[in-house]
Amino acid sequence: MLPHPDEVQWNGTVNGEEASIFIESNAILLDVLRDKIGSLGTKRGCDMGTCGCCSVLVNGEPKLSCLTLAIDTNGADITTVEGLADGHHLHPIQQTFAEFGGSQCGFCTPGFLVVISALLSNNPQPDEREIKDAIEGNLCRCTGFQQIVDSVKAASEILVSGNVVGDSTSPKSDPHPGFGGN
Ligand code: FES
Ligand code: FES
Repeated sequence: MLPHPDEVQWNGTVNGEEASIFIESNAILLDVLRDKIGSLGTKRGCDMGTCGCCSVLVNGEPKLSCLTLAIDTNGADITTVEGLADGHHLHPIQQTFAEFGGSQCGFCTPGFLVVISALLSNNPQPDEREIKDAIEGNLCRCTGFQQIVDSVKAASEILVSGNVVGDSTSPKSDPHPGFGGN
């Protein structure tokens, strides 16, 4: 029988809120986020690093949370899909995913949104090749990807020009009242 792993303290910031919890020393970040923090938007797809559904930002960099030891993120600033909106204002890529059909069944969507938000932070005007390179680790079985690429281009236009697509600046009702303190 394998020895039970030690419990260790994990401190971090998740979507702007400080967290200090005890976790098993070999806990996987995906499990900690879903089961201890309550970030159910972070999806478990393949659990082996091939689909991108579990992507989160660790200190601003996309990481596959299913392949990340939680203890290796001790002290980190983590952003999950729940942390992309600015209060009740959607991130532009959330708005354009809805408007351009980037999301259909939606299971892959949190991972795409997180990865694309990092792309747009670093490069607000990516070309088509840069968009495809950024999302190459994310699998979608529904959209055929063109709608996702179109969504990124439209979000880029919003960010670069300040032009509004639809009513993206209108505050949305909070789908997770009480989550994240907003
Ligand atoms: S669940 Fe992590 S890559 Fe698929
Ligand atoms: S929208 Fe269904 S898997 Fe991507």
